[in-house]
Amino acid sequence: MRKIVIAGNWKMYKDLEDVRAFCKAIASSLKTKDLGSVLPILAPAYPFLALMQRELADTLVKVAAQDVSAHAEGAFTGEVSAAMLSSLGLEYSIIGHSERRAHHNESNEIVREKLLLLMDNGIKPILCVGETLAQRDAGETQKVILDQLEGCLRNVTIYGAEDIMIAYEPVWAIGTGRTATGEQAQEVHRIIRTWLKNTYNDVLADELPILYGGSVKPENIAGLLAMPDLDGGLIGGASLKADQYLEMIDIALKSRK
Ligand code: 13P
Repeated sequence: MRKIVIAGNWKMYKDLEDVRAFCKAIASSLKTKDLGSVLPILAPAYPFLALMQRELADTLVKVAAQDVSAHAEGAFTGEVSAAMLSSLGLEYSIIGHSERRAHHNESNEIVREKLLLLMDNGIKPILCVGETLAQRDAGETQKVILDQLEGCLRNVTIYGAEDIMIAYEPVWAIGTGRTATGEQAQEVHRIIRTWLKNTYNDVLADELPILYGGSVKPENIAGLLAMPDLDGGLIGGASLKADQYLEMIDIALKSRK
């Protein structure tokens, strides 16, 4: 059975005090709760990774990075390597987010380099894919998603479904309040799962978690989680508020799986 992942991507929000307050607000309830098949993940900015690991050490929350360098090591001022993240004991890192692709010109090839470095260092990539509104309106959604999957995973061996997650994040739904309907998300999640089946194998396609991201919030997450191929959310804005994050975990606990 696939897990339900409730992953918060905090982007460039929250300072030290905010991070501490958030951890304090969620730690006690996530310590005692039986989360069953729900996996909570939170991705703060780099400076707070180690602090959050400490603050949430007694909980089931996994702390993740939002990105990683495409280089293994060297004179790359401001970059953080996969080996550094691994030395912290991190298990997950987001890569290929549309904000990185758009504002930092990250191609599928660069995302692939990052993915390989993460996997070499024992960190599970949360690989983001998604189409823009113009691409959707032009009827290119499937082509864009398949191009991204093929580009980012070209000749990449995936041994098990726990090695990687994929997040479908339609660019037009990110930070806009305009969520994809459950049916719109399901259609693309099915495309992704079918691609995994054709490229890898049935077991991997069946077990690999595919998350949805784009204006997910407590009000709409139940409808999204009801979709058969949707295994959780990669959540921006609504994950910044402790009460909303906890509420989404509660809703996930009550959902089908
Ligand atoms: P929002 O939930 O704020 O739309 O952000 C989604 C996202 O980009 C998560 O990675």
